Amino acid sequence: MSDLRGLAELGDLENLPVIVRADLNVPIDEEGGVMDDGRIVAAATTIRALMDGGAFVIVLAHLGRPGGRRVVPAGSLLPVAERLSSAVGSLVAHAADTVGPLARASILNLRPGDAVLLENVRFEPGEDADDDALARALAAPGRAFVFDAFGAAHRRQASTTGIARHLPAYAGLVVAHETAALGELRDRGAAAGVVVAGGAKAAEKLPALADLARSAEAILVGGALAHVFLAQRGASLGSSIVDRGALGAAAAVEAAAAASGCELVLPTDVVSTDGLTTDARIAVEAADAVGDGRIALDIGPETAARYAERIRAASHVVWDGPAGAFEMEPFRAGTDALIAAVSDCPGTVVVGGGDTTAALRASGRADAVTYVSTGGASMLDLLAGRDLPALEGLRA
Ligand code: 3PG
Repeated sequence: MSDLRGLAELGDLENLPVIVRADLNVPIDEEGGVMDDGRIVAAATTIRALMDGGAFVIVLAHLGRPGGRRVVPAGSLLPVAERLSSAVGSLVAHAADTVGPLARASILNLRPGDAVLLENVRFEPGEDADDDALARALAAPGRAFVFDAFGAAHRRQASTTGIARHLPAYAGLVVAHETAALGELRDRGAAAGVVVAGGAKAAEKLPALADLARSAEAILVGGALAHVFLAQRGASLGSSIVDRGALGAAAAVEAAAAASGCELVLPTDVVSTDGLTTDARIAVEAADAVGDGRIALDIGPETAARYAERIRAASHVVWDGPAGAFEMEPFRAGTDALIAAVSDCPGTVVVGGGDTTAALRASGRADAVTYVSTGGASMLDLLAGRDLPALEGLRA
């Protein structure tokens, strides 16, 4: 039984203005096309249900991290509104601002059962800091708030935790499904086996990894996340991306792993390049001795084989974050090897994270794993038993 208030408790939806916070943070290509619509398809279930009930549906979402600046067209949700319209099966309008005159006009134009997607909420300067004046402005057109952005549930922001201070708040169908499914998987020991973590966003993932280290038998690290651990151990990483602000958190994961006998496994080789031009020189190097000026962008073949072997033999696997810059052909082999391994693994396999699940779906193997989450860091937090701030205001 969920302890979150759900859509059923919203009562009569007819003519009810409902603010929905969805996670529509999807990869967009250079022409502005949606590259993977997994999160959009998931969010459409809640939006459709509210439309079917005759509500006025006002959708808030973020795209990327514009940090309070209006970045158009790259950060605009316009292409997402188009794809969301196909997913719900009727037009979802797009307003070109979030709390300004265009949003207000679009909301006034809604008829019962209509929906509008407001512009990227992270264009608003107060969003990232959960500014209460912004939270109040976002809440103003609604009479109820449905939080459905499971992937952003670990964030304390105006549109995640803030609006729930001003409106009665309910969990959407995505949040209800994710919390139930991941809670059950956690209870079945999903976090007790092999955890595979990669990608960037080190600051978000490391606290969960420190907690997961207490239950997992091994943590295999790849992508830019591995650079933080390697740097913390004094490795030479050339010009590779290293989130130096996360070194202390990486040390805490190392300490937690050492204390509980969890094996922390780092890459021994990487694929590196001297640039991103077509004539760049790509090479395999030792992970702790990347040459001056060179950039590591994937785990190397030896590491990929080692990780794949561990994954295939595991009874439980949790994976969040690609092994490298898989969207570029020369640096996709590591992520491909992890995809092949998780799809072969006979155990319980839980995969999350926007990039990771996009790569998994693109490979056509999403059906081969036990569960695909719309969350990344939020999924790790839930599996690690950590609180998700945006769910606090939804408790029944
Ligand atoms: C995600 O992609 O993990 C979620 O949409 C959250 O995005 P964020 O890490 O930029 O807050």
